[in-house]
Order: sequence, then structure tokens, then C-alpha cells
Amino acid sequence: MDPDEPGEALAELRGRRLGGAGLLQLAAGTGVAAYVVWAGLLMPGFRRVPLRLQVPYVPASARQVENVLTLLRGRSGKVVDLGSGDGRIVLEASRRGFHPAVGYELNPWLLWLAQFHAWRARRRAPAVTYHREDLWRVNLSDCTNVTVFLAPSVLPLLETKLLAELPDRARVVAGRFPLPTWAPSAVIGEGIDRAWAYDMHRVRQWAAAPSRGTSV
Ligand SMILES: C[S@@+](CC[C@H](N)C(=O)[O-])C[C@H]1O[C@@H](n2cnc3c(N)ncnc32)[C@H](O)[C@@H]1O
Repeated sequence: MDPDEPGEALAELRGRRLGGAGLLQLAAGTGVAAYVVWAGLLMPGFRRVPLRLQVPYVPASARQVENVLTLLRGRSGKVVDLGSGDGRIVLEASRRGFHPAVGYELNPWLLWLAQFHAWRARRRAPAVTYHREDLWRVNLSDCTNVTVFLAPSVLPLLETKLLAELPDRARVVAGRFPLPTWAPSAVIGEGIDRAWAYDMHRVRQWAAAPSRGTSV
């Protein structure tokens, strides 16, 4: 056989069965490739975030964005999206009059994309800013409108942070996954587009109530 002839080389490869070592190599190669995609594209900038708090990027659906902003209707002032991805919620909030509209995000690719979208929409959404910052380190004490779309595994810790830092007049809107122990003031949408609103003064009253957990 001529090893330089592609047709013959392919035929030989097809005829060869993968041994244990070959399978191991294939598995290792696939694992490395998956890790490179994960670390390089989806999770860059997360080295200092503990693994259990790392949340991958999944963009909100158009209906989800609409539901989140419907639950903020009638409100104004500062809005903050914790883990802002490509900035779609921040941008739409700015279009609807929230000022300033701020996103916190660790993934530099997504920050770049968000800034590009903001630049393109600069006339209709002038007050948008994005910060490359770990959301767990941001002080939220001046935030009155907070949006979140994170993984269920980090939401218990997020409840603790929001309860400790947000002012009473703040409203939190969670997309796709509800905050696990809080009672919502309003819910809108179905399935993956659903959103939940929480008013901090009511959350605090509810958390302090002696009968909490016994009523339906
Ligand atoms: C499920 S995506 C939601 C993106 C966007 N909010 C949306 O609704 O389309 C979660 C985002 O949070 C970001 N993120 C996760 N942990 C973070 C952290 N500790 N600090 C800042 N951003 C974080 C991820 O990079 C990802 O873009």
C-alpha cells in the first residue's frame, strides 16, 4: 500500500479497529476539545470564581426579555442585569427609559458583543454601561431594579446577597428560574419564558413572618 495515497490510507483506517489505547486517546482528545471550547469561549474570565458559582452563557429568549421588562413597567431609575451576557436586557431596559442601565459580566467576548450592540443602538439607548466585574463582588445597595437569569444552583446564595444589600424599594425580576424560597409579587409567562418579580419590602416582611412556610 502507498501510505501517501489518501484513498488507501482511508481504507486502512476504516479497516482498523480501535484498541483500548485508541479509545482512551479519542476520549482524551474529545475531552480536551470540549474543555477548550468551555474555557476559551463560554467561560473566559471565570478563573477566580469558584466552580460551584460558575454559570454558563445562555441568552434570554425574546419573549423572556419582554416578560422581564413587563414586570418592571411603571418603574424608573437605575436597572442592573447581573450576568448581562450580550446585553439584550440592559439594552431593552435603556430603550424603555431606565437610566442608567448597567450590566455586569465576566466573559470578555460577551462584553465586547454587548458594547457593539450598544454602540449600534446608541441613539435609542444612550445610557448603557457594561462592567467586567464579578457579580458576587458588586455592591447593590443603590440598585432599585435588578434583573437576573442565572442557574438554579447559585440562586440560594443570590437570595442571601440581595436580601443583605438591596434597599426596600427595590424590585428583583428573575427570568426562567425563580428565586427558590421567596414569594413572588407577580409572575408572567409560560415555560422557559416565565419571569418572577419580587419586591424587597414584601420579601422582608414575608421572611420575618412567624407563620412563614405554613400558609399556602
Ligand atoms: C444565563 S446567562 C444570561 C445572560 C443575559 N442576562 C440574558 O438574559 O440574556 C448568565 C450570564 O451570567 C454571566 N455570569 C455568570 N457568573 C457571573 C459572575 N460571577 N459575574 C458576572 N457575570 C457572570 C455569564 O457569563 C452569562 O453571560
